[in-house]
Amino acid sequence: MRLLINPAARPTGALAAAAPYLSAARLAVAKAEISRWDGYRPTPLADLPGLARGLGIGTLRIKDEGQRFHLKSFKAMGGPYAIARIAARDGAKDRVFTSATDGNHGRAVAWGASRLGCRAVIYVPSGVSEGRIQAIADFGAEIVRTEGTYDEAVAECARNAAARGWTVIADTSENAHDEVPNLIMEGYLVVIDEAAGQMIEPPTHIFAQAGVGGLACAVAAHAEARWGAARPRLVVVEPEKAACLMLAAEQGHIAQFPGDLETVMGGLSCGLASAPAWAVLRTAADAFLSIPDGGVPDTMRLLADGADGDTPMVAGESGVAGLAGLIAAMASEDVRLRLGLDGSSRVLLFSTEGDTDPALYAKIVGRSADSVRGQLFRP
Ligand SMILES: Cc1ncc(COP(=O)(O)O)c(C=O)c1O
Repeated sequence: MRLLINPAARPTGALAAAAPYLSAARLAVAKAEISRWDGYRPTPLADLPGLARGLGIGTLRIKDEGQRFHLKSFKAMGGPYAIARIAARDGAKDRVFTSATDGNHGRAVAWGASRLGCRAVIYVPSGVSEGRIQAIADFGAEIVRTEGTYDEAVAECARNAAARGWTVIADTSENAHDEVPNLIMEGYLVVIDEAAGQMIEPPTHIFAQAGVGGLACAVAAHAEARWGAARPRLVVVEPEKAACLMLAAEQGHIAQFPGDLETVMGGLSCGLASAPAWAVLRTAADAFLSIPDGGVPDTMRLLADGADGDTPMVAGESGVAGLAGLIAAMASEDVRLRLGLDGSSRVLLFSTEGDTDPALYAKIVGRSADSVRGQLFRP
């Protein structure tokens, strides 16, 4: 584990950096749109007092995005929202939506396009599991397998879309003012807004896992909108093999993270931060924490078993990253002190995915997600 306290952190400024996107008015538009989708309901915010006691913090709340629509990840709020907005403004007829993905985003784009009867073409880099690819194809999307990393798939998708006139639903961009990634993050705002509305007392700390930084950026923007300068501390958690936001903080600008970006946390396997997200996180992230893969299986099992009387939760490999980061932080006195974590801390986390690859989930946890969920109904 490695901690970087962000020397550029400021209590406010996130909303100004994102303007005109991510404002309260734009959140209201996103809420109005998403809340009329079939099957919409806020995901549960679990209270885990057993785990909080074990870790030595005051309270621990985890937003369970594994229960988001039937897509089992918060990504259902992003791509499909951008698609809905673009289709409403520019029309959906004969439109082809396309994106690159390491799993969840592509599945969400495929679903968002199918909701409107549109075609979707999804670019999948090597290393994405067959289970995840099948889940995208199940929504009727055409799959294009590419060689190399996620970032290379993003580039190939952009090239082909430009040649064919397709609409790219990218969750990342080199341009901070690009509309699509900002619309996607506006969809994510609804997740944070739900969580904040489900809490009695505001959190003191939020640990948000990051791939290109979209979720963490939405967390930052909404935290400032809701709590102003009294906002909670934001810790951005990344895999140590793909810590592109930590690298941007160190270098003072976005840079390519070296290496093959191989990590069990597949949704976080990104080597290049998104410019719209970075524009906000540059000052809104209080710290960056990079974690090894090693803690992920145990963290998945810990949630599946339900610590000390806690309700069990199905959380996937990228879904547990925030909790794996918190557990690693609490195990180090130095990190704990530098992050100001103690027995009075109220920590908010996001389990950003459930068993999005059911076979992989069962292999890691030792039993199926259904059997974990079955425990919920035991007398
Ligand atoms: C399950 C999961 N969690 C977190 C993330 C990270 O989101 P972002 O890339 O917006 O930082 C992703 C991205 O694909 C994901 O699939």
